[in-house]
Amino acid sequence: MTRHLVIAIDGPSASGKGTLAKRLARHFGLPHLDTGLLYRAVGWISARSGRPPAEVAASLTADDLADPQLRSDEAGQEGSKVAALPEVRANLLKFQKEFSSQQPGAVLDGRDIGTVICPEAPVKLFVTASSEARAERRYRELRRQGVDTIKPRVLAEMAERDRRDSERAAAPLRAAPDAWLLDTSEMDADAAFAAALAFIERKGFRSSGP
Ligand code: CDP
Repeated sequence: MTRHLVIAIDGPSASGKGTLAKRLARHFGLPHLDTGLLYRAVGWISARSGRPPAEVAASLTADDLADPQLRSDEAGQEGSKVAALPEVRANLLKFQKEFSSQQPGAVLDGRDIGTVICPEAPVKLFVTASSEARAERRYRELRRQGVDTIKPRVLAEMAERDRRDSERAAAPLRAAPDAWLLDTSEMDADAAFAAALAFIERKGFRSSGP
């Protein structure tokens, strides 16, 4: 019998959790949900339509998640603001819970996956990196996208979002007590993947693929 494998990955912005989540999902042949995209979409749509964030969250569709503008820093800030609203979080809960209960499992990344969405997940990772390393990554990513910015600004915006995400009352960014801490400050994506995979395999999970 295959054990239900839910991999819950949390961590701050640009810690490497998204890349790691995608690679683990591919390796284990599991569907992946970037839950940050849900909050980004709610913030973005609500700011442009004037509709209340909780209402947008309740009627979010897959099409709403396809907009490439959701990857922008502006959408990240708007997402982080609506993410502090308990009604928004409550209205996104069912979708995330259903996603995580698929067979044979799923990979979800976000801020509250190990603490609120999937507290029973057999694998919980909390991915961190120093603020400097994260700002440097985010700066390079933005430059690659052709965004004209400077490093101190990236660092300041990241610090503002981290503070909001960690200090809010509703599901603040926290490592679950049983999460495995992975500091990627000195690691590239390959090294982070190898470390996470070794940890998951130690728990007895193996890819059933070729
Ligand atoms: O990609 P990055 O880490 O920069 O951000 P994201 O994961 O797309 O998340 C955008 C914002 O959504 C975060 O700053 C959080 O405020 C919020 N979020 C959350 O509250 N809970 C989640 N499970 C995922 C994201």
